[in-house]
Amino acid sequence: MTRAAVLAGLGAALPPHLVTNADLADVLATSDDWIRTRTGIATRYVIEPGSATSDLAVEAGQRALASADTHRVDLVVLATSTPDHPCPATAPAVAWRLGLGGVPAFDIAAVCSGFVYALAVAAGQIALGITQRALVIGADTFSTIIDPADRTTRAIFGDAAGAVVLRAGERDEPGALLGFDLGSDGEHADLITVPAGGSRERSTPHSVAAAKRYFTMQGRDVFYRAVVSMTESATSVLKQTNWSIDQVDRLVAHQANLRILHSVADQLGMDHDSVVVNLDRVGNTVAASIPLALADAVLGATLREGHRVVLSGFGGGLTWGSTALRWPDVAVAPFYPEYQEKQYGGKTK
Ligand code: UT7
Repeated sequence: MTRAAVLAGLGAALPPHLVTNADLADVLATSDDWIRTRTGIATRYVIEPGSATSDLAVEAGQRALASADTHRVDLVVLATSTPDHPCPATAPAVAWRLGLGGVPAFDIAAVCSGFVYALAVAAGQIALGITQRALVIGADTFSTIIDPADRTTRAIFGDAAGAVVLRAGERDEPGALLGFDLGSDGEHADLITVPAGGSRERSTPHSVAAAKRYFTMQGRDVFYRAVVSMTESATSVLKQTNWSIDQVDRLVAHQANLRILHSVADQLGMDHDSVVVNLDRVGNTVAASIPLALADAVLGATLREGHRVVLSGFGGGLTWGSTALRWPDVAVAPFYPEYQEKQYGGKTK
């Protein structure tokens, strides 16, 4: 028997404010047709002023703990590039609000690969016997760092959180994380960046006025690198699991662009039907993207117990990462705001 980290709970959270492509076309030089054709995105959700990343992280964390039928974990890892504050990390506050005060809690900043990086760190702690049970959250609110006048990034990104509980178990159990491939390429760090606000270019009235606190992305260059890196990374994980591509039932890759997802599937030799897609409803939710797609796919019954699943992320840094598992029997609570309003008798937006 080999000790392994096993996925035991899953939850997600979206903010209440829905933004359609038509809403964006009302205020920017864009169109529903351009956004749908070039990205596959139709809607995204954004937080209201006064809310922060930790609010979504707590909500997703609560749902993941309930899904795992537990109140206790001994590690909290939060993947985010939009922490509540530049300092300190957001994870300790999230842990405290979840009633987990006292446990080790820290952030991981690997942008859209952050969730897979966080899974790898937590799984390593579990494999070493340091941790018995971990809460791993991916949460981002890119609406707080996007230039409202930038039609490209504003069309793509949405806010969300997704979370899983990992517990110590055996490698041959359903839900066991079966291998990891992680990598980075800092030579191209400038392709996805917030130029100012860190130690290199400090916040000054000038940098704020020059919009250097906003997120920037060189989309076309990132597109091709995303396809190559996620394909190579998923292939490396398949070697570790000894699975052939024909044995993979679902690819859950970072939801950046439908054309990227289909290109990765084509490179790997997978049917497009095997690719989990929810970016049409939520956009690119950065570190939340993979757990949110997992939760959506479980609720929609496109991801089922026993499926062989490959997870793959790519993002700023540049960074990438993949892992694989046989899908376990986990329950997921509904998380779309419209659904919950209906569910609890509230007003439908
Ligand atoms: O999450 C981390 C990883 N991120 C990604 O993986 C994102 C990867 N990149 C992409 O998804 C795509 O590159 C984008 C969706 C960002 C852009 O799509 P594209 O097909 O690569 O477009 P482009 O940047 O080459 O721009 C084509 C044209 C440009 O106009 P000109 O210069 O040809 O006149 C843009 O200004 O489309 C224009 N454009 C838009 N037009 C209408 C860019 N954004 C928009 C927009 N509406 N929202």
